[in-house]
Amino acid sequence: MTNSVSSAQLFAALRARRSVYAIKPSSPISDSAIRELVEAAIHLAPTAYNSQTPRIALVFGDKHKRVWDAMWIENQKTFPDAEFEAAQRKKWENGFMSGYGSIVFFDDRKTLEEFIAKMPHRKVELTAWSKNGTGILQHTVWTALAAEGLGASLQHFPQISTTADAALRKVIDVPEEWECTAIMPFGEIVQHPAEKPKLPVSELVKVFD
Ligand SMILES: Cc1cc2nc3c(=O)[nH]c(=O)nc-3n(C[C@H](O)[C@H](O)[C@H](O)COP(=O)(O)O)c2cc1C
Repeated sequence: MTNSVSSAQLFAALRARRSVYAIKPSSPISDSAIRELVEAAIHLAPTAYNSQTPRIALVFGDKHKRVWDAMWIENQKTFPDAEFEAAQRKKWENGFMSGYGSIVFFDDRKTLEEFIAKMPHRKVELTAWSKNGTGILQHTVWTALAAEGLGASLQHFPQISTTADAALRKVIDVPEEWECTAIMPFGEIVQHPAEKPKLPVSELVKVFD
């Protein structure tokens, strides 16, 4: 197969991907185009031994709203005081809650366990590589959304709280073996984020020749 994109085009798409918190409940592309994007991404993102452990739930409309109402109720329990809560509420209302939809990422524990059964000596590595696979998929979806003008961020409420995980499962009916790895709220961009500082590449990359 010949290359139809250059690395410059790929990097332009990668540059467009940012953590965008200020989003609104609209989309420049149709629901079916978002669905196609997610379906393409899950086939394109590589996994260790082609184990295909990642799963996705694509959530629109009232269900998206209910997911974030549920996450708020769980997260609110951890707030230290009313002032903090008010500031968080503003952030959530202008961000996660006001999104157009959410992509919920999971790892399928059953598929992972089947692979581990085939290669028990690689249990630790396969478990870590499964997480790597989910991260690669998250980045693929995030970048593809950005390329279509949709802002998104990566959140982890069900992963870090069992009560948030249970609350999520009350809204979206996914198999018990699907373990949530992240939620990505998305929507049309209200405000682009500021640049973030980056370490000099000389500290990050060593070249040997
Ligand atoms: C593995 C991983 C976990 C992250 N978890 C969160 C999170 O829980 N909440 C959040 O707001 N951002 C989260 N982020 C976003 C990072 O903070 C963000 O990508 C980073 O600061 C660089 O900014 P950028 O996305 O605008 O390029 C996460 C990113 C990665 C790669």
